[in-house]
Amino acid sequence: MRIGVMTGGGDCPGLNAAIRAVVRTASQKYSFQVIGIHNGYEGLITRDYRELTPNDVRGIVRIGGTILGASSRTDPFHYEDPETGAIIDASESAAATLRDLNLGALIVLGGDGTLTLSSRFGERYDVPIVGIPKTIDNDVNGTDYAIGFDTAVAIATEALDRLHTTAESHHRVMLVEVMGRTAGWIALYSGVAGGSDVILLPEREYDIDGVIGAIDHRRAVGSHFTIATVAEGVPGPGGQRIYRSRTGVAHQWKLGGVCNTLAEVLRDRTDQEVRSIVLGHLQRGGTPTAFDRTLATSLGARAVDLVAHGKSQRLVGIDGGDVIDSDLLVAAGGARRVPHTHHLLEAAESMGVYVGKS
Ligand code: F6P
Repeated sequence: MRIGVMTGGGDCPGLNAAIRAVVRTASQKYSFQVIGIHNGYEGLITRDYRELTPNDVRGIVRIGGTILGASSRTDPFHYEDPETGAIIDASESAAATLRDLNLGALIVLGGDGTLTLSSRFGERYDVPIVGIPKTIDNDVNGTDYAIGFDTAVAIATEALDRLHTTAESHHRVMLVEVMGRTAGWIALYSGVAGGSDVILLPEREYDIDGVIGAIDHRRAVGSHFTIATVAEGVPGPGGQRIYRSRTGVAHQWKLGGVCNTLAEVLRDRTDQEVRSIVLGHLQRGGTPTAFDRTLATSLGARAVDLVAHGKSQRLVGIDGGDVIDSDLLVAAGGARRVPHTHHLLEAAESMGVYVGKS
């Protein structure tokens, strides 16, 4: 059998570890041939791919990014024709590539956007698809952890540690913006791990008085600096989400900049110096953590097992300590957001961290 593998959406650390697991399992356990599609659906439409053998994936477990390339905007159903600029349905061309390559199944590493498209594509063209969740945002339904999240949390935590020392020396309020789109997973985990005194998540309303209250409380107890971790999806004080770019359709607009806006407001309300920093794509770069490498390996190997057992339209994931699989449609159910009853949110709140209104 011949199977395809591709990475869709934005990159993240751990993708290469998953590709390696797919290729090695396919080759060694099942004697399958693997075709790596370049740049997600773009490569299926433009016929850009190559064979991947165990030799091609040697040594990539520790390397960030994806050897297959990624394209975060390609939607085969709404594809921008490079010649005319018109938006066309190119899904039939993508399906024709699969047929011509005689691929028996396609393994797709993606976030909720790519996995939703894949579910539709698989159904329409009767292509067996197995999805592997990856995104630093950790917002894919059907898994406790997506590939890339743990590394992003580790990077953000290290940044918070470094900012702590300078904030303390200068007695400053430091606002640190982390990614995550409409979910606050990175903010919650890195904020707690990095010892933040204020953690703002899109899932919880907040008010500026609450933030000021936390800063004042710290000064009252002798800590003359405050670190706040702010998720990019938190609305500004006016209640509107803040974007750094608004190109394309609304769900593709890029969030970013809320902590700069919040800093302006805080400067008027406190006599402490306030600084803001947006961590941005640093959170998606570099070496994956051991957790992401092992997660990617387990999910990649299980995805090939499912293909070998004739399963289609499945999503692999983690539930507690187990690798599970569920209907691919589960990933299409919108973003998985931090529940108000999450144990870490409750722990932070019970320690006096300001996490917004209860
Ligand atoms: O979904 C992953 C993510 O890094 C988000 O956290 C962030 O909002 C977005 O992608 C950034 O997208 P881009 O790389 O296209 O700027």
